[in-house]
Amino acid sequence: MRNFKYYTPTQVLFGKDTHLQVGTLLKQQGCHKVLIHYGGSSAVRSGLLEEVKASLADAGLEFVTLGGVVPNPRLSKVLEGMELCRRENVDFLLAVGGGSVIDSCKAIGYAVANPWTDVWNFFLKTETPKECLPIGAILTIAASGSEMSNSCVITNEDGWLKRGSIKSDLCRPRFAILNPRLTYTLPQYQTESGCVDILMHTMERYFVNFETMEITDSISEALMQTVIYNARILMKEPQNYNARAEVMWAGSLSHNGLTGCGTDCGDWACHQLEHELGGMFDVAHGAGLAALWGSWARYVYQENPERFAQFAANVFDIPCGTDFQKTALAGIEAMEDFFRSVEMPTNLRELGLILSDEEIHKLAFKCSFEDTRTIGGIRQLNMKDMEKIYLMAR
Ligand code: NZQ
Ligand code: ZN
Repeated sequence: MRNFKYYTPTQVLFGKDTHLQVGTLLKQQGCHKVLIHYGGSSAVRSGLLEEVKASLADAGLEFVTLGGVVPNPRLSKVLEGMELCRRENVDFLLAVGGGSVIDSCKAIGYAVANPWTDVWNFFLKTETPKECLPIGAILTIAASGSEMSNSCVITNEDGWLKRGSIKSDLCRPRFAILNPRLTYTLPQYQTESGCVDILMHTMERYFVNFETMEITDSISEALMQTVIYNARILMKEPQNYNARAEVMWAGSLSHNGLTGCGTDCGDWACHQLEHELGGMFDVAHGAGLAALWGSWARYVYQENPERFAQFAANVFDIPCGTDFQKTALAGIEAMEDFFRSVEMPTNLRELGLILSDEEIHKLAFKCSFEDTRTIGGIRQLNMKDMEKIYLMAR
């Protein structure tokens, strides 16, 4: 077991109608002018945006709005938000949406609060932010865990590079409002893609090469079982409140650090491999992860078959004898069966991508930062390994 630091400063307000308290919460934060940041059209269509505005107005707060954040959020929108916040003297950022909107807020918060440098440097990891504007989130999709996490992911249109920011507690939201009902309007594909992302945030932390903590393993395995069980229910009953609630809370717990206690934060190779897919082909993040995971798992499981066998036994109730290899492979197949059962892809073709050898090479070249870095923990992967995994997933 490794030493760890666990820090989750985000206040969580969970349940029906909680978003109506946003004005009061912001008032408690002592802010004066708020940027309400949102995505394409879902928050407008559902009436959520109007309810949020009314709550702020009731609390006597000034605000400006900026919509138009797209999935795989863009740097150009961040810069637009930065200009707006400077012009309007905004002192608090309110994200109304999913991971893309929250991440765009986090990047705007960095850009405004660190005028001494270009915000992209925090994504190139050549500079470290010193401050960030405070952020709050009203979550509309359970997926990214950004509502409690310490990082954000932005795509720079110049080169279509999708990069995660340097990790910093500065960007952790001050509060997260989690009303499961706000997720009822999600298309099935987004719901299930979100469930995969939640699973992956736990799996990325789970698959390591050293002794772990029993308590962290148990929390992680229970979380995975809960998400798998409820993701299946949501295929048939998208308005099942309890299933939405289970998945929503799992999403936050999956990425607030809890499932990484004692596992040295984990592996994260699949996320790195997926970010290139998101940058180059604009796929939904969770679906991209589902398309890659099985190939990654088959490529690395022999580094620690016992761990994969434990996963098979404790998450999928597969009987575990002494043949760890066999049980490990059965566990990988069970996870892929689950992906199929919720209509998620298990390879790139099913994700809608028919890739040439050149494109596969380019993905690996970009993911390895032009052959200058390795990724992964259970097994370190260089550019050639990455290329092989993309090829296996083709
Ligand atoms: O733009 P609108 O119209 O709102 O539509 C969105 C979008 O098309 C729609 N949607 C969201 N809530 C809805 C809804 N549609 C109907 N009803 C609702 N209630 O869903 C689509 C996807 O939204 P998005 O915010 O992109 O989804 P998600 O939360 O999965 O976020 C994905 C982004 O988060 C990053 C990913 O890389 C990706 O860019 N991640 C951020 C992390 C972090 N900051 O800690 C960690 C993650 O691993 C992840 O990398
Ligand atoms: Zn993710």
